[in-house]
Amino acid sequence: MLSKIIEKALNKQIRIEAESSQIYLAMACWAEVKGLEGVANFMYKQSDEEREHMLKLVRFVNERGGHAQISELKAPNVTFKSFKGMFEMLFEHEVFVSESINELVHISLEQKDYSTHNFLQWYVSEQIEEEAMARTILDKINMIGDDKGGLYLFDRDINQLTVSTAVQESPE
Ligand SMILES: [Fe+2]
Ligand SMILES: [Fe+2]
Repeated sequence: MLSKIIEKALNKQIRIEAESSQIYLAMACWAEVKGLEGVANFMYKQSDEEREHMLKLVRFVNERGGHAQISELKAPNVTFKSFKGMFEMLFEHEVFVSESINELVHISLEQKDYSTHNFLQWYVSEQIEEEAMARTILDKINMIGDDKGGLYLFDRDINQLTVSTAVQESPE
């Protein structure tokens, strides 16, 4: 049985994951209308993954005697100054999510809720991967700068980045 404190903290994370999904969906739309199909596909996939992160939490809360709260969400940014700006936002958002997961882990230990603590370890590893991915992308974007040709190649390459990560994840 989840304590009220843990339930509330997990529900807060459910909202954060749902908002992440919306943020990335908005980024996908912006990239798609700007004609960067590769970036759009990448962001659609990120958005789906965030929804999965949310669902995993929802099921955990409900299965442990809590009640997952599906709440209203903060509206995401729908336009961006540049792709660099967009990916900076993605990176900063992932750092924010990692901090939120760390705080949750801290609360689970304080509450001596070891099953929640164990459950959260998946999120801890996931955030390491996501931050690394966002950092790699940002490094590439910084190299390209305003070069249109570079952006074209980046749009093509980001799909390969998606593929190689999917391959790494498959042994699970
Ligand atoms: Fe997430
Ligand atoms: Fe994420």
